[in-house]
Amino acid sequence: MAKIKTVFACTECGGVSPKWLGQCPHCTAWNTLEESLDSGSSTAPDHRYAPLAPTSQLRSLASVEALELPRLSTGLTEFDRVLGGGLVAGAVVLIGGDPGIGKSTLLLQALVAMSAQAKVLYVTGEESAEQVALRARRLGASGASVDLLAEIRLDIIRSTLTEQKPAVAVIDSIQTLYSADLTAAPGSVSQVRECAAQLTRLAKQTGVPIVLIGHVTKDGALAGPRVLEHMVDTVLYFEGDTHSSFRLIRAFKNRFGAVNELGVFAMTDRGLRGVANPSALFLSQHTNQVAGSCVMATQEGTRPLLVEIQALVDTAHVPNPRRLSVGLEGNRLAMLLAVLNRHGGVKTYDQDVFVNAVGGVRITEPAADMAVLLAIISSLRDKPLPEGLVAFGEIGLAGEVRPAPRGQERLKEAAKLGFKIAMIPKANAPKQAIEGLEIWPVERLQEMMDKLR
Ligand code: TYD
Ligand code: MG
Repeated sequence: MAKIKTVFACTECGGVSPKWLGQCPHCTAWNTLEESLDSGSSTAPDHRYAPLAPTSQLRSLASVEALELPRLSTGLTEFDRVLGGGLVAGAVVLIGGDPGIGKSTLLLQALVAMSAQAKVLYVTGEESAEQVALRARRLGASGASVDLLAEIRLDIIRSTLTEQKPAVAVIDSIQTLYSADLTAAPGSVSQVRECAAQLTRLAKQTGVPIVLIGHVTKDGALAGPRVLEHMVDTVLYFEGDTHSSFRLIRAFKNRFGAVNELGVFAMTDRGLRGVANPSALFLSQHTNQVAGSCVMATQEGTRPLLVEIQALVDTAHVPNPRRLSVGLEGNRLAMLLAVLNRHGGVKTYDQDVFVNAVGGVRITEPAADMAVLLAIISSLRDKPLPEGLVAFGEIGLAGEVRPAPRGQERLKEAAKLGFKIAMIPKANAPKQAIEGLEIWPVERLQEMMDKLR
């Protein structure tokens, strides 16, 4: 076999250099050269990525039949939900998460459940086969017919996949694999990119869905090149507070389903258990109302979820007061405090402000604004909010309260869980009364504050 040539390509401009240099000779950027395979002329029919491209033919969109994709259930309802109903043939799913969050456990459980009907393959590069067997025993599934391959060489994994043709394959993890064509160490950007590209190609060729487990960096992004996320069909994040037992899977990108769909699990001593009705999971159990707490009705994918937002406003003892948010967007907090000052006349420049979404959830939607501000106002005044209050709504820079999508569902969920009052954007006010729920429609920040007097 002819030796495959490697070159060094710049991640900024794509310029190629035959050897590594600290500075790209093309765009003068520093530290951007990465080893990659010299792919030669991209038009050659035997080009190594040629099979990735399906045979092309000019067709009219109307003549293309859109088939409903058959889904392979993973056997875990919550996992299926985030995937958009199950795995699709030839799809590549990348799932990232902190160490110890339960990625290996989740995928092993899914494979065990699937192994009853189909041939499944678990490739482990991180643990030995014995360690995986030990975990399977812990999950009460030592008798399952899951094919195990403890391997990190890409060539062998590829040939096993081609020979065995499993119904689904799991690679744990993509950072441990290496391709012999590159000299870089496993886990380096070039290795991760190369291995993922080759596995993606294989999935498309053979129709075997492949789940790649990925590590995340310190700030929570998937480790490796950003192109990894573009290459695969679905990117999922496994998140949650390792100190609590709840784990969330969130779809970040999904070519075969909705994003921001949420799967909820609880980690037990026998693996992960799906939580079918998680709406009350993230409410803390206060017997009495406390200051600085507000429950918000958020919408995650297709399900409404009630989450408690807490705020603590305290006199600052340093010239630059602290603004800290956990589970909520930090920049948005600064913005809300500015709006509160300008349109509500409440000054916080000499106060430290901390906000937290209880239970380790992360809320990205702007409809959290109202609950955040209510919690802050409540903490500042040291006065609990009215009992049984729930809120949602976005707050604009002009101090206006903007509607949130799917308001009805949020309200119904809140009523179901026994909330009495809903402070919501006027545009979200229901036409028909919801039993047991008093609606406080508001249009401006000032109105919100007046209601609390
Ligand atoms: P693991 O799947 O190894 O995490 P990852 O692959 O994301 O690094 O999860 C390991 C954690 O889960 C570990 O801290 C122990 C815990 N665990 C349970 O609590 N119950 C169980 O049944 C299993 C298998 C693991
Ligand atoms: Mg693991």
